[in-house]
Amino acid sequence: MNQRNIYLDEANRRLQERLMHVSRLAAVGEMAAGVAHELNQPLAAVANYAQACERLLGLPDPDLEEVRDALRQITAQAVRAGDIISRLRGLTRPRDSLGELTDVNALIRELADLIESDARVHESSCRFELSEGLGPLTLDRAQIQQVVFALVRNAFEALDECPLGSREVVIGTARAADGDVLIEVRDNGPGISPEIAQRLFDPFCTTKTAGTGLGLASSRTIARTFGGTLDHRPNRPSGACFVLRLPSPARR
Ligand SMILES: Nc1ncnc2c1ncn2[C@@H]1O[C@H](COP(=O)(O)OP(=O)(O)OP(=O)(O)O)[C@@H](O)[C@H]1O
Ligand SMILES: [Mg+2]
Repeated sequence: MNQRNIYLDEANRRLQERLMHVSRLAAVGEMAAGVAHELNQPLAAVANYAQACERLLGLPDPDLEEVRDALRQITAQAVRAGDIISRLRGLTRPRDSLGELTDVNALIRELADLIESDARVHESSCRFELSEGLGPLTLDRAQIQQVVFALVRNAFEALDECPLGSREVVIGTARAADGDVLIEVRDNGPGISPEIAQRLFDPFCTTKTAGTGLGLASSRTIARTFGGTLDHRPNRPSGACFVLRLPSPARR
C-alpha cells in the first residue's frame, strides 16, 4: 500500500468513527425523548392517585376501600415504570448471558402451555412445527424464550384485528442451508403496516396504545448477543413472519 492510500485509509477510518459518534448521539437523544415520554405517563398517574389518597383521607368519614383502590393503582403504575426501565436496560446490555448447551425445540416446548393460554385469551389457534435433529446450541434459554414469547405475543395482538375462526400463529424451527438454526413465528394477521416497516426494530416504535415499542428492539439485541439476527418478511398469503436466526456452532 503506498503512502497516499495509507493516508486515505486513515482519513476514512476517522470519518467513519465520527459518523458513528454522531449517529450514536442522535440515537441517545431520540432514546432520551422516548424514555421521558414513556415514564411521564405512569409517574403522572402515581402523582394523581397519591393526591386523591390525601384528599380522601382528609374527608370526615373516608372511604377506605376507595383509598385502597388508589393505592393499588399506585403500585401498578410504579411496577409499569420499573418494567420500562428494566426493559430499557435490556436494550443496551441484556442481563448477564448464560451460555449453556440448549435444545431449541425443548426451549419452545417449555413455552407451549404459556403460548396456548395466550392463544385462548386472544381467541386464536397456535400450531408448532418443530424440525427434529437441530442439535444443541450454546444459548441463554431464558433470553431466547423471552424473544420467542415477545414475537408470539405480537402475533396474537396483530390477530386481534382479524375475524374469529381464521386467526392462527405458527411457531416453527428449521435448519437453514448454511447450518444455522431458525426459529420462525408466523401469523395470518394484517402484516406489518408499511409506515413503520423501516423503524420496526427501533426503540419505542409502536402502533399500540398500551405498547412500549421495546419488544422487538430488545429481542434484536438478544439475538445479536448470541451472534444471531432477527428480521421479518411478509407471510403468505397474509400476515407477518419473524425469523430468529441462530448461528450453527461451526460458525460462531
Ligand atoms: N406480527 C405482527 N404483525 C403486525 N405488526 C406487528 C407484528 N409484530 C410487531 N408489529 C408491529 O411492530 C410494532 C413494534 O413491536 P414491539 O413488539 O417492538 O412493540 P409493541 O408490541 O408495540 O409494544 P410491547 O412489545 O412493549 O408491548 C408493533 O406496535 C406493531 O405495530
Ligand atoms: Mg410487542
